Amino acid sequence: MTQDQLKAVVGQAALAYVPEGAIVGVGTGSTVNCFIDALGTMRDHIRGAVSSSIRSTERLQALGIEVFDAADVDRIPVYIDGADEIDHGGHMIKGGGAALTREKIVADLAERFVCIADASKLVDVMGTFPLPVEVIPMAAAQVARRFNAMPGVQATVRAGVTTDNGNPILDVRGLKITDPLAMETEVNQWPGVVCVGIFARHKAAVCLLGTAEGVKTLTF
Ligand code: A5P
Repeated sequence: MTQDQLKAVVGQAALAYVPEGAIVGVGTGSTVNCFIDALGTMRDHIRGAVSSSIRSTERLQALGIEVFDAADVDRIPVYIDGADEIDHGGHMIKGGGAALTREKIVADLAERFVCIADASKLVDVMGTFPLPVEVIPMAAAQVARRFNAMPGVQATVRAGVTTDNGNPILDVRGLKITDPLAMETEVNQWPGVVCVGIFARHKAAVCLLGTAEGVKTLTF
């Protein structure tokens, strides 16, 4: 199967995690686009969605799915999203599509995070994929300097990208994220950091992994 076919298969498989009548948390990215398209087939069985990006909102609405503002929703049963990398503990790097802050906000509303990913995303140690960090513009150089002071690490501003919140993204290369929770906690405290793309506090409860042998369900 091609990578696109694997994404379609896990997008479809995620429907099994959507309770009848629910408001569903919906992430962002090419894998989630497959999930949104599948969700369209059961739009009469859900109340609607809370979305993590303008792109996903538009796709949901085009399929006739009502999108609720996160501020108007107390709690949702499930958040379904992709990942750039996921380790064997369910920790993830996210934000390759620049939606990390809103993704973490919606994940925080949810009882559980269901990650959908093709097999290429599963890694032993995260960090090969550059770590996205959303920052306040004024702090970009300062936060980059902190990363660059780490041996072998290089942070660069993602060219031509502004998030839905109007901020730049740093992409940080050369990290080996052996303790995701510690690194998330540390970077979160640096002045000017809006969101770091490590999802350790909001890690996956389940990962539906698309493999050549079919969908593997990993639980954490
Ligand atoms: C969006 O900001 C990201 O967190 C995506 O969830 C992640 O990049 C996975 O995207 P793909 O499904 O397109 O690989």
